[in-house]
Amino acid sequence: GVDLGVTVGELRLDNPIMPASGCFGPELSELIPAHRLGAVVTKTIFSGQRAGNRAPRLTESANGMLNSVGIPSIGVHRFRREVLPRYQRIGVPVIVSIGGLRPSEYWEVAEELPPAEYAALEVNVSCPNLDTDGSQLGVDPESVARVTEGVVARTDRPVIVKLTPNVTSIAELASAAAAGGASAVTVANTVKAIAIDWSTRRPVLGHNFGGLSGAAIKPLALRLVWEAAQGTHLPVIGCGGVTRASDVVEFLLAGASAVQVGTATFTRPDTMIRILDELGPLARDLDVGRVSEFTRGLLMNE
Ligand code: DOR
Repeated sequence: GVDLGVTVGELRLDNPIMPASGCFGPELSELIPAHRLGAVVTKTIFSGQRAGNRAPRLTESANGMLNSVGIPSIGVHRFRREVLPRYQRIGVPVIVSIGGLRPSEYWEVAEELPPAEYAALEVNVSCPNLDTDGSQLGVDPESVARVTEGVVARTDRPVIVKLTPNVTSIAELASAAAAGGASAVTVANTVKAIAIDWSTRRPVLGHNFGGLSGAAIKPLALRLVWEAAQGTHLPVIGCGGVTRASDVVEFLLAGASAVQVGTATFTRPDTMIRILDELGPLARDLDVGRVSEFTRGLLMNE
């Protein structure tokens, strides 16, 4: 059969399919055979407790989903005791997503998590919902390098940095993550957007702005993956609008080594499993014996 195995820096995965952070809680493993996934990624955890943003925090339209959840958190101590073990029991590599409002908060979270309890950290410097003016630590390359460096110093596991799409140069951010010692980058988080209710003249979301996700952003995500892969030596995990096996092939061709599935998992919890069932046969049809051969295989026009 087709070899679905991939490597993402030092991470070896049985296949390139994993959930996007925030889109897969441990309870989903009762609905789907999650042990088949290449890895699982946890919802972003902060050091302390947080409530998240005011409701409504989610809206769907024909043009994609918007969320303004704002990373509610039970804090890293309760996460480690009550949630992380449930992810571990799935039996695949666990990538723990960590967050903060300041560099020192990211470092605190990393310090509280023994590296033996996870396969990698994903550093979320790209949530668009943390403040109303939309400024994010992750839009500034120097901050990205600094946060990354401090996390890398506190673990011997690979550190993946999840980048924001809300910048002019994703390559610059990827280079900053590399300079900080990251093993890979995830490209990308949600696109800062707004949904308007014309009848009330108000934004639909309580936080006004939100992050756009789903099929609407796939072409943007593909372009960003391509630019990030061109701009650094780091492996790239693609994320944005993946719903089927051919989307995975497109992301790998653009330069990704693995992909995350987010919004589609809300619509259909078994999306990742369906993709896994289709990926081998699709690769075989394309005369490819290992899916890792797709990575960076895009043939640009002259
Ligand atoms: O779109 C997002 N929503 N991206 C994140 O990084 C976090 C999440 C939230 O909780 O707001």
